[in-house]
Amino acid sequence: MITLNINGQDCTVDAPPDMPLLWVLRDVVGLTGTKFGCGIAQCGACTVHLDGEQARACVTPVSQVGTRRVTTIEAIGDTPAGRKVQQAWADLDVVQCGYCQSGQVMSAAALIAANPSPTDGDIDDAMAGNVCRCGTYVRVRAAIHRAAREV
Ligand code: FES
Ligand code: FES
Repeated sequence: MITLNINGQDCTVDAPPDMPLLWVLRDVVGLTGTKFGCGIAQCGACTVHLDGEQARACVTPVSQVGTRRVTTIEAIGDTPAGRKVQQAWADLDVVQCGYCQSGQVMSAAALIAANPSPTDGDIDDAMAGNVCRCGTYVRVRAAIHRAAREV
C-alpha cells in the first residue's frame, strides 16, 4: 500500500511500486482527466504537478512520488495560475480535439506560477514537451500571454 496526496487529499492505494503514477491516477483512483499518449515522456499528455512542478506521470513510478503533492487537471482550477489558464483557454477557444489539452493546461499553469511574465521564448521552452496533433500551438501561446496578464 502506498499513500499519496492527490489534489489535497491523502489516499492510500494498492499498487505495485513500479506502477506508473498515470496508471494509478486513471485506473486505481479513477481520475481520468490525465491522458495517456506515448508512455515514454515524449508527448506531455500525462502531465501532472508534483509540488507545483510539471512531471510526466507515464514515467514516474508511484513509489517515487513520496510526500510530494500530486495535482491533476481535475484540481488545477483551484490554484490561482490554473484558474487563469483555464479561463484564458476558454476565452480564446484553444481546444480542438482536446486530447492533449489536459497536459497543455498543466504545463502552462506551472509556467505561469513560476514566471508571471513569460516571453515567447519562455513559453516555447516550457511547452516544448507538449505535443498537439491538432496544431493549437499559436492559440496556446496566446492564451498563456492572456493568463499571465491576469495573474
Ligand atoms: S503519455 Fe506521458 S509523455 Fe506521453
Ligand atoms: S487539441 Fe487535438 S491533439 Fe491537441
